[in-house]
Amino acid sequence: MAKAKTAYVCGDCGAEYNKWQGQCVACGAWNTLSEFVVQPASSSGKSSVGAHRDGYAGASKETAKVMPLTEVAAETESRTLTGIGELDRVLGGGLVDGSVVLIGGDPGIGKSTLLLQMLGTLGAKLPGVYVTGEESLGQVASRAQRLGLPLEPLHALAETGIERILEQVQHSKPRVLIIDSIQTIWTDLLTAAPGSVSQVRESAAKLTRFAKQTGTSVLLVGHVTKEGGIAGPRVLEHMVDAVLYFEGESGSRFRVLRAFKNRFGAVNELGVFAMSDKGLREVPNPSAIFLSAHASPTPGSAIMVTREGTRPLLVEVQALVDQSSLGNPRRVALGLEQNRLAMLLAVLHRHGGVAAYDQDVFVNVVGGIRVQETAADLPVLLAVRSSLRDRPLPDKTVAFGEVGLSGEIRPVPNGEERLKEAAHHGFRRAIVPKANLPKKKRIGDLEIVGVERLAEALDAAD
Ligand code: TYD
Ligand code: MG
Repeated sequence: MAKAKTAYVCGDCGAEYNKWQGQCVACGAWNTLSEFVVQPASSSGKSSVGAHRDGYAGASKETAKVMPLTEVAAETESRTLTGIGELDRVLGGGLVDGSVVLIGGDPGIGKSTLLLQMLGTLGAKLPGVYVTGEESLGQVASRAQRLGLPLEPLHALAETGIERILEQVQHSKPRVLIIDSIQTIWTDLLTAAPGSVSQVRESAAKLTRFAKQTGTSVLLVGHVTKEGGIAGPRVLEHMVDAVLYFEGESGSRFRVLRAFKNRFGAVNELGVFAMSDKGLREVPNPSAIFLSAHASPTPGSAIMVTREGTRPLLVEVQALVDQSSLGNPRRVALGLEQNRLAMLLAVLHRHGGVAAYDQDVFVNVVGGIRVQETAADLPVLLAVRSSLRDRPLPDKTVAFGEVGLSGEIRPVPNGEERLKEAAHHGFRRAIVPKANLPKKKRIGDLEIVGVERLAEALDAAD
């Protein structure tokens, strides 16, 4: 067998080098290269860094041929419902056999709890092994007891060496393998410390290969770094089938599970949970919890209907606009895109006649959730103007709609569904893009106002 060689891999972009260097030429990042062992491929003679490449190519050694897709039998993935509805929704309708799912989140957010609960509800239907590199077996057992889970189907292993883990599970043949966390796992092949990019990457590559070869579903827990990425950031996201983030505000008992990438389902799908002393409970109707409870309308607050994933959700957008003492006023967006906010403020000035160039503007989505769709444009601007004038929006009003650069209000998908959600929660008035107007001007008690231009929308919200 050929000798293993060493390569250096950039943790940010994955570029490979023969020698260590301070800066990655490909992406320009400093100090991101780390050591990585190149496994010589036994048959083809080509070496491959990162086993995920050959992992996906399959084990076949025949020459591949060009095929018309009509002659290829489509693979249908087989799925198992985990029994936790909100988790199944985010996974795209259950756990897919042989899939690799990365679950990221801040320490203490509830990742271990969620996965242990999942193993419990899967029970004997899909036997699993929980590999812990952070806690002792006794701690896992006491957590399972506290959560009131049935103990018989739960199997755990306290081990961090990937070779030993794989050897163990070759014998016990679980259908689900949970690795808590990938940052604690290391391989004998590398001298780098556990948690370093190269260790995380090589261990994850081995686990991915194991999943694809045996059809075992592998769930990896990944702690999020200070910069907000999972250690070995880009590299891990490429290797796995799905990346889910578990998020929530410290101090709030609500937790949101979000699909960031999913080969088997919609991205941006949200699952909502509430923490309790008996573990995570599902919140099947989350709209109510994302509205902060104001007794009376307050300036700077606008309610929107977002549709992240496959269901509509009412969320509150808050803005604080204040005289700036800086030459370059601040624009801060939490839960929204920063650059879009700058653009929207320019549109508000040009087409709405509302100037904020000498004001600091802070915008926040309540509940720690993130809204990525453009339907937030109109509610953001309504909240900004409301704060600037220190005058609340009319009571029981919702809004959504994309705002274009020429001040036009553009339609968003699934307008009617959003309106029904607003009506369902007792709202009286909706300001929406004209193209989203349903045939009837009313849904229940909800009066619907269609607008074409930003100026019209501002008038409608006066
Ligand atoms: P844990 O699942 O260990 O978080 P992570 O694996 O993401 O670091 O949860 C952190 C702590 O919160 C732990 O002490 C248990 C507690 N907890 C509850 O009491 N109830 C809950 O519903 C959850 C999710 C956690
Ligand atoms: Mg944990």
